[in-house]
Amino acid sequence: MGKMSVNLCGIELDNPVIPASGTYGFGYEFAELYDINMLGTFSFKGTTKDPRFGNPTPRIAECPMGMINSVGLQNPGVEKVISEELPKLKKCFNKPVMANVSGFSVDEYVYTCEKLDKCEQVGWLEVNVSCPNVHGGGMSFGTSPEAAAEVTRAVKKVTTKPVIIKLSPNVTDIVSIAKACEDAGADGISLINTLLGMRIDLKTRRPVIANKMGGFSGSAIFPVAVRMVYQVANAVKIPVVGMGGVSSAEDVIEMMLAGATAVEVGAANLINPYACKEIIEDLPRVMEKYRIDDLTDIIGGVK
Ligand code: SIN
Repeated sequence: MGKMSVNLCGIELDNPVIPASGTYGFGYEFAELYDINMLGTFSFKGTTKDPRFGNPTPRIAECPMGMINSVGLQNPGVEKVISEELPKLKKCFNKPVMANVSGFSVDEYVYTCEKLDKCEQVGWLEVNVSCPNVHGGGMSFGTSPEAAAEVTRAVKKVTTKPVIIKLSPNVTDIVSIAKACEDAGADGISLINTLLGMRIDLKTRRPVIANKMGGFSGSAIFPVAVRMVYQVANAVKIPVVGMGGVSSAEDVIEMMLAGATAVEVGAANLINPYACKEIIEDLPRVMEKYRIDDLTDIIGGVK
């Protein structure tokens, strides 16, 4: 069997597969189905300073080859994540976890990251500047190089762990935003979050989603994600975590060829809770098929 381990910002992962934030809860929910220690790691539910109930329902619209969500960063708030969710996770996951953080101001990002940075279970901070579902929230930071850099700089000042900035595809020039984050001290970039989308119910003539618009994810967006990962990986020197519509071991390999050091799997977990398990189990077969001895060798290997 070939070598599947990769190094993400100084931390070794047994394999590059990472369930994406918002599709895997706080992990222990999935531990009822299989041993989640087989994952590279996972990115837990987007956490904010204060608890959030989220957006009005309906929050989900199904689409061919994908779905739209407008969850609105529902989460119990950082204090409860630390006092209740992480202890539950500790019982079933013995690897460093990726803490996904959102905020409505630079101070909120700083507050939440500083708290999570002190948790020994946390390996990386994934700072989401790309949520499309909150007005004046995360995405406004992710749509400007200056604002994304400001969040990065502020978070880096109060943390010791690798900071990975999660970027939005809903911009004209994602490369300039990625480079601004790198210059501001980011240790890695993850992309892409969801594409802003909308569905309309023909009977009621109303938007399907109460918030009208939401983030489109699923296998339909995979080619867009590969393109953006390729563009960003070629422009920065820090590691890139690729995501967006990944649903198979072949997709993981393709993302890595585009330049991803590790690969997040999102909507696929909502269709099939065993998706990540199956992808990891299938990776050796696909590596053998394409004569890959060591996954690290193929990062950015597209010709
Ligand atoms: C949400 O909670 O609305 C989704 C989070 C995100 O897409 O960043």
